[in-house]
Amino acid sequence: MLLTEIDHIAIAVNDLDAAIAWYQEVFGATVEHREVVESDGVAEALLRVADSYVQLLTPTRDDSPVAKYLANKGEGLHHVGYRVADCAVALESVKASGGRVIDESPRPGSRGTTVAFIHPKTSFGTLIELVQDNS
Ligand code: CO
Repeated sequence: MLLTEIDHIAIAVNDLDAAIAWYQEVFGATVEHREVVESDGVAEALLRVADSYVQLLTPTRDDSPVAKYLANKGEGLHHVGYRVADCAVALESVKASGGRVIDESPRPGSRGTTVAFIHPKTSFGTLIELVQDNS
C-alpha cells in the first residue's frame, strides 16, 4: 500500500482569517502552520486533527487555480493529500496505470514536503495530492 496516512484535507475558502477563527471558536483548533506558496498562488493554514491536518486554502492572486475553483464551484473540499513514503514511486504507479497527472514529476510543496497532483478525471472526481514528508 503506497498511501500511508491522510496527510490533509484541503478546503478552499474565500476568507482565510474568518475560516481559521471559526475553527478556533467552535472547535478550539489551533493553527500549527501558515504559509504562502507563491508558486501556487495560495495562502494556507494547517490545523492539526490527530496525525492529519485540515488545510484551509485561499488564493493570493486572481490567476491562481484556487481562485478559479472558488469562482466555478464556490467554497468547499478542494483536494485530499495522501502521505506517501516516496512521491516519485507513487506518481510512477499512477502513470504506469495510464492515469492522468497534473505534475509530471514531484515538486516542492509547503512545509518542505515533496508533492505531486493527480488529475481528478483519473481519481474518480477527487483531486489527489501525493505528499512525501521530508522532515
Ligand atoms: Co494540499
